[in-house]
Amino acid sequence: MLPKKMDDALNTQLNAEIYSAYLYTSMAAYFESLNLTGFSNWMKIQTQEELFHAQKFYNYINERGGRVIMQAIDKPETDWDSTLDVFEFTYKHEQKVTSLINDLVELARTEKDNATYNFLQWFISEQVEEEASVDAVLQKLKMIGDFGPGTFMIDQELGKRVFTPPAAESGA
Ligand code: FEO
Repeated sequence: MLPKKMDDALNTQLNAEIYSAYLYTSMAAYFESLNLTGFSNWMKIQTQEELFHAQKFYNYINERGGRVIMQAIDKPETDWDSTLDVFEFTYKHEQKVTSLINDLVELARTEKDNATYNFLQWFISEQVEEEASVDAVLQKLKMIGDFGPGTFMIDQELGKRVFTPPAAESGA
């Protein structure tokens, strides 16, 4: 049985993952408005990643006999100044998510909830990847500057991103 505090905290994180999906969809729409379809594609794939994360929390809460309670989703930002601005925002957002996951791990420790502690290890590794994939784009954008001549090239590159759910985790 899931401790009540843990159940509540996991539900809060489920909401945070859905919010992330909502935020990245908003970024995809921003890029779409600039005809940067590759950038938009990257954000749509990011949305799928977040929904996958949300599904993992949903399944885990149920598996442990908890109760999923869907909450209101905050309105995300809708406008940014440039491609660089979006990726700086995204990087900060992912750092915040990493800190939320770390807080959950701490709670699992204090609640002596080893099963949840174990479940969260996947997210610890996932956040390393999340931050790294955003940072990889961010560094390139810093080199070319806001809407610099390399923007079109990066747009083509980001257009190739596809969603591949981790095989071992496909039951999530
Ligand atoms: Fe669900 Fe991008 O972290």
